[in-house]
Amino acid sequence: MKSEHKLFKGKTLAILSGGGDTPAINSSIESVRNRASMLGYKVYGIRNGWKGLLGEGDIVDLTHQPYDGWYGGTALRSSRTNPFPSKKNPENRVPQILENLKRYKIDVLVTIGGDDTNGAAKRLYETEGIPVIGFPKTIDNDLRTQTMHNFKGENIEAVLCPGFPSAAQAIAEFTGKLKTTAESHSRIMVLEVMGRDAGWLTGSALFGGADMALVPEFEMTKERKDFFFESVKETYMRSPKKMLIIPVSEGVRWYDEKSGKVDVVYASSEVDEYGHPRFGGISGIIASEISQKLGIDARAQITGYYARSGNCNNYDRRLTTTLADKVVDLLLREEYGQMPTISKIVPHQELEEFNTSSVDMGAIGNKPLSMQYYDVNKFRFTEAYHDFLGNVLDKKYYQDFDYDFPIVLPKK
Ligand code: F6P
Repeated sequence: MKSEHKLFKGKTLAILSGGGDTPAINSSIESVRNRASMLGYKVYGIRNGWKGLLGEGDIVDLTHQPYDGWYGGTALRSSRTNPFPSKKNPENRVPQILENLKRYKIDVLVTIGGDDTNGAAKRLYETEGIPVIGFPKTIDNDLRTQTMHNFKGENIEAVLCPGFPSAAQAIAEFTGKLKTTAESHSRIMVLEVMGRDAGWLTGSALFGGADMALVPEFEMTKERKDFFFESVKETYMRSPKKMLIIPVSEGVRWYDEKSGKVDVVYASSEVDEYGHPRFGGISGIIASEISQKLGIDARAQITGYYARSGNCNNYDRRLTTTLADKVVDLLLREEYGQMPTISKIVPHQELEEFNTSSVDMGAIGNKPLSMQYYDVNKFRFTEAYHDFLGNVLDKKYYQDFDYDFPIVLPKK
């Protein structure tokens, strides 16, 4: 198509990424940029999330630039800047943002983020009439994407966010590797996984050979802790190799004997501009209580930022391009305030346009694991979760060496 005939010729679309990074943000940026420029838009990148619209602005031109969507993280960089006043920052930055949108002649904004970034964008759309489209992003996979998972005839509300497939693969690989060291020392490894409010990512350790798991959705009261320790002992004793990997979400609420309270473990007393504290360290506490109470050697391992790191995987690549196709549809219909989603859980090969839909991009946060996915009495992810994950990860990430050497007795 000749460029003068392009529908949005003369218009500018700008992309920003906010919140924690994922391996799929560059892929999202590239996919949206490619499609928007085909429609005739000039495409800008706003650097460091909302921060790039403050002061003089920090804007780059992406229109004809080479872009590597397989490379993880975000080349536009990210921040947790909040346009609206918060406890940490009482200043209202909306006037600065509006001023810069005008100065740079930005007609449409695509915000790649979770509930915070997209929630703020939705507010700007509602209160100031700024045309915005959201693009989902989080390794925690806890946005309300309203993605249905059909398991044995039952429709379960699942979630599918770009970033989760790559992060799930990283956690499965990490767990699979840890198995050999746990096995060599007949240990229990308590593996801490990102996830403040939901255990979607923690569950991916199952494909690395983990067994029991703890998630933020169910708090560990005194009674539940006692029951948990009993189950750990039983599972460990039953395990053929006398080893266990127990993934736990960083946001697990755990009963503290000294204070008598159930709470998360904080890595820092700081909160960000959206009021989120930083969690970390629960695995160390659980491992040491396992050692003390059960007399089984236990160690803690925090996966932390590893889950977010590295390249975008194949599933995420296809997911982001498919969702970017839906962005085109939203742009053409001028349906702002919306976020593209995948409407059903399907394997990589089937991620196609006809499975997309869109949802209101405001208030999309904190979708906990559906109850069909976790058995609270067994501290285990269910068959339904295995099935869900089996669509996103196409294999198991652990190996086995089945040895059973004959015992030699001293010669008489
Ligand atoms: O974006 C969500 C998240 O991945 C949480 O799982 C984690 O607690 C948080 O980000 C860590 O973010 P930061 O980069 O600010 O330390």
